[in-house]
Amino acid sequence: MAVERTFSIVKPDAVAKNVIGEIYSRFERAGLRIVASKMIHLSREKAEGFYAEHKERPFFGALVDFMTSGPVMVQVLEGENAIKANREIMGATNPAEALRGTIRADYAVSVDENAAHGSDSPESAEREINYFFSSDEICPRTR
Ligand code: PPS
Repeated sequence: MAVERTFSIVKPDAVAKNVIGEIYSRFERAGLRIVASKMIHLSREKAEGFYAEHKERPFFGALVDFMTSGPVMVQVLEGENAIKANREIMGATNPAEALRGTIRADYAVSVDENAAHGSDSPESAEREINYFFSSDEICPRTR
């Protein structure tokens, strides 16, 4: 399996809980490298664009309200099988269904406020990385 990149968000609930470092440690312990990272407070326009594929879903307004309720960390993770690895570290979308020891099991309270986002496919990863980062903001490891 070649090295791949995925896009990740530490959502407003996890930032408010002050567990950014705990979550980053989990990425690193799993062998993923953080090759880009920044804190931002999403505008409604930016959040609506990011979740555009869900705009007809009943929860769309609540999702945008939540994602704009406070700052988030956005990052690019690099490593072998990074997309799948990150989704395993995060756990299921609904924290009630997330395996013990996953980010969502440990830090999320509900499907509405579920601590983390991770790309679900190579196509999503490419789109999402480009939505938040320019190429000169991504720093591949040289050692
Ligand atoms: S689905 O059914 O598989 O398409 O849904 P999913 O891809 O898992 O979820 C898409 C994103 O919407 C969030 N979500 C919700 N937000 C608020 N309320 C409810 N009920 C809800 N259900 C799902 C979910 O956390 C996903 O966000 P991301 O950031 O992609 O993880």
